[in-house]
Amino acid sequence: MAADDQETLYDRVGGLPFFTELVDWFYDGILEDEYLGPLYPADDLDGASERLALFLAQYWGGPPLYMEQRGHPRLRMRHAEFKITKRVRDAWITRMLAAVDEMQMEPEDRGELIAYLDMAARQLRNR
Ligand code: HEM
Repeated sequence: MAADDQETLYDRVGGLPFFTELVDWFYDGILEDEYLGPLYPADDLDGASERLALFLAQYWGGPPLYMEQRGHPRLRMRHAEFKITKRVRDAWITRMLAAVDEMQMEPEDRGELIAYLDMAARQLRNR
């Protein structure tokens, strides 16, 4: 296998700064979002941004910083307190796709990232 084949998506997109920027786009103006605004902590958006960025960075091959700070992700459990209907889930996906569109990345990586985010969001619908 060529060395390139072993590189993770995390490495290819440039590491943690990529995920921090992606998540910044996602959170930008989120409190004004009709469906998502009411769910997110107005007094801790920086903390929320960091949690999501570290989770995504870890998922795509970065250091396990999320795990060190938050423990096992257990995303379904952590989202159980939020009523995630189809509308809410669609709002999340739409906002996340718009954030991905702001980022420079190879089409193949973009496809992989989007497919994962879409799949994960579908799994978190709980209403
Ligand atoms: C389906 C629509 C979704 C909604 C409405 C939603 C909503 C939320 C909300 C309101 C929070 C709390 C913010 C905070 O204080 O950290 C949160 C946390 C989080 N979400 Fe989501 N989320 C969704 C999908 C996803 C997906 C697809 C992922 C992963 C790919 C994800 C990963 C996370 C992570 C890692 C946290 C922080 C958990 C923690 O450590 O406490 N979410 N989400």
